[in-house]
Amino acid sequence: MAQAEVIPGYDYGKPIVPRAPITDEDFKLLKKTVMFSEEDEKYLRMAGDVLKEQVDDILNLWYGWVGSNPHLVYYFADKNTGSPLAPYLEAVRRRFGRWIIDLCFRKFDREWLDYQFEIGLRHHRSKKNRTDKVNSVEHIPLRYMVAFIYPITATIKPFLAKKGHSQEEVEKMFNAWFKAVVLSVALWSMPYAKEGDY
Ligand code: HEM
Repeated sequence: MAQAEVIPGYDYGKPIVPRAPITDEDFKLLKKTVMFSEEDEKYLRMAGDVLKEQVDDILNLWYGWVGSNPHLVYYFADKNTGSPLAPYLEAVRRRFGRWIIDLCFRKFDREWLDYQFEIGLRHHRSKKNRTDKVNSVEHIPLRYMVAFIYPITATIKPFLAKKGHSQEEVEKMFNAWFKAVVLSVALWSMPYAKEGDY
């Protein structure tokens, strides 16, 4: 990608990222199952063009919402004192912003799949806290990963509608985003499944 900005802990495409244990064929079938099509690819790019200048506003909204929910901000807090770790929140925020852009513009190839596996590991006890070297709680429950799909999707619509696109285009961008988020969380669930259950 064109941006040269260095984001600490953002390891997309780096050799240290482990290979995602999913075959191309299984990924193809997963895409088919969320009804992700070439048209969605096109509308996801359009969504990216609309969202790229609004990333900070989106993050302000999401972070405000997480911050006002003690049961969620808990996962960004110090394990012993329960106080939210501001540097942790800030470090994740930068990678979260980059994720919005990546989700819209990256090709869903092997490199992308591998990083989805990595993001799953970073929410799971296998790797949470390691990237930012923090002493936070060890694991984010799977039920919250799944439940988050709703707020991450529902709150994006007003941002998609802000640049003067037709209602039909907004609807198509919204559906492409919704499918891409479901697809991501389906991939992020990998470390959570027992051997043989994924
Ligand atoms: C649809 C569901 C979710 C999305 C799209 C999402 C998105 C992200 C992204 C993009 C990152 C940074 C990935 C990277 O390191 O490059 C991240 C990390 C993180 N997210 Fe989530 N997340 C979701 C669910 C949750 C939930 C339910 C919580 C709990 C409140 C949460 C808390 C965190 C924390 C604590 C990190 C840092 C993990 C680490 O230590 O590396 N996330 N998330």
